[in-house]
Amino acid sequence: MGWTERQQAMLAEIGIRLWQAPEPQPASPAVVEAPVPAPAPQVVATPPPTARDRAVHVESMDWPALREAVVACRACKLCEGRRQTVFGVGNTSAHWMIVGEAPGEQEDRQGEPFVGKSGQLLDNMLRAIGLTRAEADAAQQVYIANTLKCRPPGNRNPEPEELAQCEPFLIRQIELIRPRIILAMGRFAVQSLLRSHEPIGRLRSRVHRYHGVPLIVTYHPAYLLRNLEDKAKAWDDLCLALQTLRSASAAS
Ligand code: URA
Repeated sequence: MGWTERQQAMLAEIGIRLWQAPEPQPASPAVVEAPVPAPAPQVVATPPPTARDRAVHVESMDWPALREAVVACRACKLCEGRRQTVFGVGNTSAHWMIVGEAPGEQEDRQGEPFVGKSGQLLDNMLRAIGLTRAEADAAQQVYIANTLKCRPPGNRNPEPEELAQCEPFLIRQIELIRPRIILAMGRFAVQSLLRSHEPIGRLRSRVHRYHGVPLIVTYHPAYLLRNLEDKAKAWDDLCLALQTLRSASAAS
């Protein structure tokens, strides 16, 4: 199969090198002719792959291909400062999917989302409603992923270009998992999944939809660590998610 230059550039961007057939060597000529000078090779400028090109490529990937594409990704400048990518963790058939923001220092070291202080709070919150990231069946073991797979330097906020480049990976994770409920934690998860810039306080307490999947908005655990008085609201959000999932299961 032939690859267009645009496709080749896109594959190179996500770290896949194509095998090039060697030039066929002519059989020894009986008559040796004077060499004709080859025309100067034409240099064709190939535009770099766009976020849309990458999205089209990612949307057909299975889990191993997706994982490899994330590991090899150099689509934005965050690849330069990362120790490693942080793909996601949990049951790939989980009923619950948790979407956070981006890896911090500990996540960048350990390669797993939410392992620092906010991760401890998240684990406690999940445990309170009978969920876990540890090995369990699909109803109990959640899947946790972030909008960004690489740590922004100094834990700064993700930039729009970084979110756009990384978004196809999260979209594909959700498509492969097909969760029954999504918990979007913090404003960047909400911006990615709901395309909304409204404050969390205005979006929580109701059921949104992401491609038909019920989605509950709640505060990011890092925010809750700084604003203890809002923990009760986060608890209400978890209860709303639980109740939404139970009603959906009872109706089906
Ligand atoms: N905050 C997040 O949103 N994700 C992590 O993985 C860690 C901290």
